[in-house]
Amino acid sequence: MVKRDILFHYYEVESVAALTPEERELVELARKMCEQAYAPYSAFYVGAAILLENGEVIKGSNQENGAYPSGLCAERVAAFAASAMFPDVAMTKIAISARSNRLKVEDPVSPCGACRQVLLEYESTQRVPMKILLSKEDGKVLIIDRVKDLLPLSFSGNGLKRKTDQ
Ligand code: THU
Repeated sequence: MVKRDILFHYYEVESVAALTPEERELVELARKMCEQAYAPYSAFYVGAAILLENGEVIKGSNQENGAYPSGLCAERVAAFAASAMFPDVAMTKIAISARSNRLKVEDPVSPCGACRQVLLEYESTQRVPMKILLSKEDGKVLIIDRVKDLLPLSFSGNGLKRKTDQ
């Protein structure tokens, strides 16, 4: 048996003040987008802002529904909109933030497994990594270099080949 390690590192800054102006603006946009969440059931408001390689910023917030599984996370709302509007433009950065009136949000919010899977597929079809900036409504920001780091040993559709294909 061979033990294999996967090393993952991320960065932490105390506040947006330590970010570049571009990244600070993206985090602030994600924080602002929490206000536009439609989350009457969870009262957990998530915002996302994606910077595209062409300079456009696509924003999203979580959208819930009375039929619970029909809702969607902020990250996928933003990523699907970005891909729909700019199908061939790389997503270079995504900022994600969350706040709640009902719950105590103590740490920066991190994307759920389904969002990681979706973001990873976009990242792997573009030439550049997608940097991730995680925060809550204030305070520290966690910075992750690429989506791939958040989903080690991930499933990829590349492995789906017909048995007759060589
Ligand atoms: N949610 C997001 O939008 N993004 C995340 O990263 C975690 C969870 C949403 C889904 C649901 O509307 C609410 O937060 C509570 O889970």
